[in-house]
Amino acid sequence: MHTEREAPQSLSTIRGTVRWQSPSNIAIVKYWGKHGNQLPSNPSLSFTLSSAHTTTTITYSKEGDAQLTFYFEGKDHPAFARRIEQYLESVFRIYPVLRDYRFHIRSENSFPHSTGIASSASAMSALALCFGTIASTLSKALTPASKQTISELARLGSGSASRSIYGPVAVWGAHPKIPGSSDNYAVPVENMHATFDGLCDSILIVDRGEKAVSSSAGHALMHGHPFAEQRFAQARHNLDRLIPALRNGDIETFIEVAETEALSLHAMMMTSTPSYMLMKPGTLEIIEAIRALRASSGTPVCFTLDAGPNVHVLYPGQVAPEVRSWIDSTLKQYCAEGQVIHDQAGAGPIRLKS
Ligand code: PMV
Repeated sequence: MHTEREAPQSLSTIRGTVRWQSPSNIAIVKYWGKHGNQLPSNPSLSFTLSSAHTTTTITYSKEGDAQLTFYFEGKDHPAFARRIEQYLESVFRIYPVLRDYRFHIRSENSFPHSTGIASSASAMSALALCFGTIASTLSKALTPASKQTISELARLGSGSASRSIYGPVAVWGAHPKIPGSSDNYAVPVENMHATFDGLCDSILIVDRGEKAVSSSAGHALMHGHPFAEQRFAQARHNLDRLIPALRNGDIETFIEVAETEALSLHAMMMTSTPSYMLMKPGTLEIIEAIRALRASSGTPVCFTLDAGPNVHVLYPGQVAPEVRSWIDSTLKQYCAEGQVIHDQAGAGPIRLKS
């Protein structure tokens, strides 16, 4: 009698380890306001950074009790662990093959803890890359998991994380002039002018404290916001102007869009109900100084802000030496313990040896 024997499971379907390093990103056109399951109310564009990144290692196996153990910088972190536990539902919906596995996750940030730098983009993209890689190993796919699906999974963890899958520039959110763009995942922006190669971003840490209002609460306050529709239209229009500027090396338009977007983001916070303000006096001092330098010397330097008081100073690589020495002499006085993180646009995530 012929009996069918089950093929022995290969070692990689029983247990394995994957590791990814994934960078943070800085949005020039901001995502602020969402609906449904993490869908953006307007398209956004960001530069992917290089030095500010998260390294995540996941060991998967079929054995063990706990479905998830999580260590952040070598220690238990119950708040992050709870967030990842919830996130596993999204992971399993996209990659059902992962349902039967247990995960041991370790994560580290390259930037010092509690600098006020949002790490959700780097953290959630690193996780999505690890889960996508494990899923393609387990399902014996000949090609790696598609970047599109990984970007979608990253989005479900944190909207801005969808863009960190690509470097140096990515757009998330459907826009008629960007072929292939989608609300579900980010797409890379190609054919950029050399002016923007390795765009520098010096992050000035004005305040290291926990934000008074989280980004999730801020997104929620865009529902019923009196200026919501105008804001979403402004973002679409700014993206319309920014794409050709990036392709033609038009730094003036880049500067105008970057600063308008930053102040518009904070204007939304200041005009929501309840209203709130995340900028600090040092934030305004730095903004004034940047504008004064530009007016007096013509140096192509500008600022953008995340949902917080810290200032991202943006400038092309060609003027890096002079801008950095000016930051040291003029702007460091406004930073908490003089803290500045010099970063620049990079090529995107890197898979590391596990
Ligand atoms: O991805 P979230 O939910 O942390 O929101 C990010 C929002 C901003 O950083 C303020 C803007 C952006 O597009 O990254």
